[in-house]
Amino acid sequence: MCGIIGVTGARDACARLVAGLELLEYRGYDSAGVAVCDRVSGDLFRARVAEHGGSVERLSGRVADAPEDPGAAIGHTRWATHGRPTEENAHPHLDCTGRIALVHNGIIENHRELAAGLDGRGHKRTSQTDSEVLVHLVEESAAAGASLTESVRRCLSVVRGDFAIAVVSAAEPEVIVAARRTSPLIVGVAASVGIVASDVAAALATTRELYALGEDEVATVRPGTVEVAALDGSRVSPRRVEVSWSVQRALKGGYPDFMSKEIHEQPQAVRDTLLGRVDASGRTEIEELAIPDEELASVERVQLLACGSSYHAALAARQAVERWARLPAEADVASEFRHRSAVVGPRTLAVAVSQSGETVDSLHAMREASRAGARVVALTNVVDSVMAREADGIMYTRAGPEIGVASTKSHLAQLALLDLLALHLGRVRGAISGEELAEAAGALLSLHEAVETAVGRGDAYRAVAERFAHVEDVYFLGRRSGLPVAYEGALKLKELAYVRAEAYPAGEMKHGPISLVEPGVLVVVVATRTTLWEKVMANVEEMRARGATVLAVADDGDEETERLVDAVLPVPHVAEACSAVVNVVPLQFLAYTVARARGNDVDRPRNLAKVVTVE
Ligand code: G6P
Repeated sequence: MCGIIGVTGARDACARLVAGLELLEYRGYDSAGVAVCDRVSGDLFRARVAEHGGSVERLSGRVADAPEDPGAAIGHTRWATHGRPTEENAHPHLDCTGRIALVHNGIIENHRELAAGLDGRGHKRTSQTDSEVLVHLVEESAAAGASLTESVRRCLSVVRGDFAIAVVSAAEPEVIVAARRTSPLIVGVAASVGIVASDVAAALATTRELYALGEDEVATVRPGTVEVAALDGSRVSPRRVEVSWSVQRALKGGYPDFMSKEIHEQPQAVRDTLLGRVDASGRTEIEELAIPDEELASVERVQLLACGSSYHAALAARQAVERWARLPAEADVASEFRHRSAVVGPRTLAVAVSQSGETVDSLHAMREASRAGARVVALTNVVDSVMAREADGIMYTRAGPEIGVASTKSHLAQLALLDLLALHLGRVRGAISGEELAEAAGALLSLHEAVETAVGRGDAYRAVAERFAHVEDVYFLGRRSGLPVAYEGALKLKELAYVRAEAYPAGEMKHGPISLVEPGVLVVVVATRTTLWEKVMANVEEMRARGATVLAVADDGDEETERLVDAVLPVPHVAEACSAVVNVVPLQFLAYTVARARGNDVDRPRNLAKVVTVE
């Protein structure tokens, strides 16, 4: 994953790098570093720090020693893949002369073979990373007299794998060369400044004139200009990125952390995502989908692909597609789908769900579905992301930039938009009556109000959650619409609070896991009023009979549920079909509260990164 930022032509280049790295830290935060060309001495300055979660902050102190008259400058924040998160493995990496510096996001698959060649030719490598081979390859061409751009091109022609890189050289102190394959990278210009960044949020403070690099394109960025070429050197017109986010939306705005801010933005995320796409009569319209209704009507199967929280949204969507579109639907973890001979054909609609639009497992699964002949839709939060560019159709959630590593608002927006897609399919296929359609549309349109009510209860949820701050062993149970919510609740608790938590279909507990239930175990159950409520409560009884403490997500005013469990997290009642959007909210607060009570950093939980660009 890793974050990349580069600036050339700015006196305050170092301050811009640090500000950019702060915004990119969500991509990884094991270590961070910068390299800056000195326009006066002609040298290259480098500083690196490896301190979990605190690298960028400490780096901001170290750049005080950076050149006063900086030329091209690059920075990186790392999520370790090859090589431990130490200072020597932190980027930028230098060549043997110390005059070329490179930052990389991705994986170089043939790095061992390349390293063996470099070692044989006398290069001295100083890290255990796969990335370092790149800078030595660039060095070889530069030593033979090639320009930095040409050297990067030659280097990339022998590389296998995924990458986004930015390279500077003391020999060309105003130039940044940037290139990408699979991992995203954008370049941009302002009056006399050039910029390179892994994502739009980090570049916005400098300019809104941004261009997305295509596969295997190499950009030469100078103060105020950008030239883009293919690997063979032929010129390419860069594609402008439409920017709808403001810089402010990527700042904390008075909240103690991004997670709190993003939880509070959920009503707006849900409302904005549905805005103009459905009306009270049930007329649905998804503008970027770009797949004609007649073609959608002939779809025979829906295949959802995703990872993490997006996968839980996909699980909920599977039920919605079956319910409203009456189509067989499957949801797969993207990293498994690719390798399991899935039967996908031209009448399959594959929907890849990804907040970032660049999770490599999801991207590869999407490509696999496309190769097998499926029509592919990317449902993502990031405009112009790699997945959005490659898919046949796009559906954008409109949650705005999400910085906290654990998904919150983007997850709710995905749930709402997937419900809308299921309704849309139901409508174009004629699988749903006008009356049902209007009823479902009404439920979707008022969803943001219920989310607002739930979010407004944050303090009450926190007070309940504090009673369980000590838990070590937790089951999350649900049935039907409650099951994806249980999965998401367990994931949140694991990733933020580092508590062992397992999600299970409530009715399946008796087939094994119940043997682990004893006093001290907490069972969190989604027990809102559906036609399955009695069955859920029977399962709850089975847990209580073995000594478990039970915490239930229950409908407002449901005294009967309240009597049958130890504590409740009350939510406003909404139609079951879209209830996941509301029911997951108290579980976000539960995870947040337990994590904070244990002193954990909720925005940057250990070992995780928000955007996972490795397989
Ligand atoms: C990482 C994040 C999760 C996220 C998952 C999928 O694991 O930590 O929060 O759900 O990636 O990300 P995507 O961007 O594809 O939704």
